[in-house]
Amino acid sequence: MREHVMPVRRSSIRWEMVEIELRGAQFREAKHAMSSWLPCRGCGLSDFPLGGSPWSPRHRAMVPMVDLGNLPLANRLLSVTSTSNAPYPLVVYYCHNCALIQLADLVPRTEMFTDYVYLTSASKTMMEHFDRYAEGITRRLDLTAKDRVLDVGSNDGTLLKAFQRRGARVLGIEPARNVASIAEAAGVPTLTNYFDLKLAKRLEKVRLVTANNILSHVGSLRDFLATVAHVLRPNGLFVFELPWVADVLRNNSFDMIYHEHLSYFGLKPLTRALREEGLFLVDLEYYPSIHGGTFRGFASPSFEEPSHLVKEMSAREEKEADFWALRDFSERVPKLAHHLRDMLLSLKKEGKRIAGYGAPAKATILLNYCGIGRDILDYASDTTPLKQGKLIPGVKIPVVSPELARTKPPDYYLLLAWNFRQEILAKEREFLDKGGRFVVPFPQPEFVDS
Ligand code: TMP
Repeated sequence: MREHVMPVRRSSIRWEMVEIELRGAQFREAKHAMSSWLPCRGCGLSDFPLGGSPWSPRHRAMVPMVDLGNLPLANRLLSVTSTSNAPYPLVVYYCHNCALIQLADLVPRTEMFTDYVYLTSASKTMMEHFDRYAEGITRRLDLTAKDRVLDVGSNDGTLLKAFQRRGARVLGIEPARNVASIAEAAGVPTLTNYFDLKLAKRLEKVRLVTANNILSHVGSLRDFLATVAHVLRPNGLFVFELPWVADVLRNNSFDMIYHEHLSYFGLKPLTRALREEGLFLVDLEYYPSIHGGTFRGFASPSFEEPSHLVKEMSAREEKEADFWALRDFSERVPKLAHHLRDMLLSLKKEGKRIAGYGAPAKATILLNYCGIGRDILDYASDTTPLKQGKLIPGVKIPVVSPELARTKPPDYYLLLAWNFRQEILAKEREFLDKGGRFVVPFPQPEFVDS
């Protein structure tokens, strides 16, 4: 007799199955942290009103899917004298209602954004990217000196300077005091504030609001989008960049997950949240080599038929950023981490010297999760003066300048700033030509030589 195998229907989740998958020991802590209902940051739903006990996981909209354990705040490098950086749980949830992949908002903003060590201008790639960005939008909107550009999370003013060069009036909003003052010193007017309705009501309406790699950081996403809608003129445009979650999952780049990044956007949940605040995603551009895969969204306060690329990428995402894609990712991550650590340990056994290349926030996650400490890496070299002389939290690996690194070059560099692979490999031609090699962690750990 032939057996009939029932196909798995991806669209209807069997809650019993989800519960069984969550029962592993690694999720105990996550479930504990979920003792109160988590509302989704995108759609606001915490449970499906299906009747029965409200504590039953069958009714939950938000389920924990990836548990990276307790990890330190990624961007809070330690000074040699103050070595405390409390770890916080890092658990990724999936919302079954709107498909937004997200963290719970556990860490006070002031702990992450008062003093900031990330500078947009730290890489040539980003400087050039933002210059082309300003050029493209100035043309698209036909911006003139009468128009004002508002950049939220304006960092050191790199993008706004590019708009200034093209004649626009600009205003930056940046909560990190130290970074805002770098922008001011460079001639970019900057308010040291968070972007909220109270602030927006004091501002004139603008033609263009930009926010790059900011929406992921926002706890009150819907309030933020409502504030953007408030400050835009009717013929205005909201332009933003975000890493595409489908790329994060496909590339296995779990180090993109850190406490600052509260949401991991797909187009589906984003389109919905924008629409509910009166903004329509009308167009997209896609940059596969920026931060491992970035999309630039164009949202308008008036309805227009979305462009072909919006439709095409949204369709791809149906399978590439759904519950099952996230579940498969959660299974691949610990295997990749073991593999990477084993590779480095084998090199150590052969007596090789290894250092980190770059000290991005991502490195804190990669190194701590994989257990790659000072027994493996001698130091991490980074061009950002604000980071040099400090320690990567948790693993306490010292960050040194490239000049210092060159006096004691390793045999292998672990490419922690893998998102600048092309720029860095081109810059390190001499290291490669002399027999040096890189270990690139994603999508699977591999060696790169000359
Ligand atoms: P990010 O991945 O968060 O953008 O950070 C990249 C880090 O890598 C940043 O601290 C600057 C550093 N970096 C170098 O040290 N050398 C380089 O050549 C580049 C491109 C970046």
